[in-house]
Amino acid sequence: MRKFGLIGKTLKHSFSGKYFGEKFEKENIDDCTYELFELPDISEFPKLITSHKGALKGLNVTIPYKKEVMFFLDELDSIAERIGAVNVVKINSNGSLKGFNSDYYGFRSSLENWLSHTNLKALILGTGGASNAVRTALEDLKIPFQHVSRNEDENRITYNDIKQNPQILKDHKLIINTTPLGTFPDVDQKPDLPYSQLTEEHYLYDLVYNPEVTAFLAEGKSAGAKTKNGSDMLILQAEKSWEIWNG
Ligand SMILES: NC(=O)c1ccc[n+]([C@@H]2O[C@H](COP(=O)([O-])OP(=O)(O)OC[C@H]3O[C@@H](n4cnc5c(N)ncnc54)[C@H](OP(=O)(O)O)[C@@H]3O)[C@@H](O)[C@H]2O)c1
Repeated sequence: MRKFGLIGKTLKHSFSGKYFGEKFEKENIDDCTYELFELPDISEFPKLITSHKGALKGLNVTIPYKKEVMFFLDELDSIAERIGAVNVVKINSNGSLKGFNSDYYGFRSSLENWLSHTNLKALILGTGGASNAVRTALEDLKIPFQHVSRNEDENRITYNDIKQNPQILKDHKLIINTTPLGTFPDVDQKPDLPYSQLTEEHYLYDLVYNPEVTAFLAEGKSAGAKTKNGSDMLILQAEKSWEIWNG
């Protein structure tokens, strides 16, 4: 049996566990298991690896360990290094550990499949972990971007700046929500934007996938903008993990 799994702090509602369980069944992959490993602290990581030595081939990593896990790895893929976060660990046959970031691939592929052209500028809402994967993908796609935060700092603008300067939404036609706002059960929440300035030329991408139409995307739809939620990204990043482990 080849073992795969997910590490994180609380994994009760894990997408990956369900996804890989169903995938193994659907595709008659009967030599693999996917387990959930709840770690109260990342210092338990080496013990997990040694206790499953030989069988464990790969792991997904979720909140809050995407950065902390990097300390325990032997090697980093160059994209994971640029992002500064790992959500996939490959355990090589010699036992060495290499870190990757499949959120980058999930986001990048889903964006490329969706946009009809990349001749536009983007706003990235939120400055957390997911925003770094989005930023790196936009850099590689040569889409200029601006980070938007609640807090003023270098290299970012604030929601107030957008409200005070209508030119910002005129210039930036792609708006990507990397904040958790609007996630079930807080479905009425949305980033604090002047939504009346949206047009049919805007593209709204929400990394949130539950609910399918977030309050942010609903605003886009009512302005006639194109909208996309995070579910393709989620599936594509899971498939990329599988490719990395088996590559
Ligand atoms: N679809 C997928 O495959 C996929 C993959 C990865 C993540 N995600 C989703 O992406 C979201 C972000 O993930 P993350 O790990 O980056 O989360 P995070 O670090 O908790 O938050 C991201 C950023 O959102 C902003 N933010 C947080 N709470 C806010 C609030 N109440 N109002 C306004 N802004 C707020 C903050 O930026 P500022 O402090 O700068 O405002 C924060 O740094 C989550 O919902 C996650 O489920 C989806």
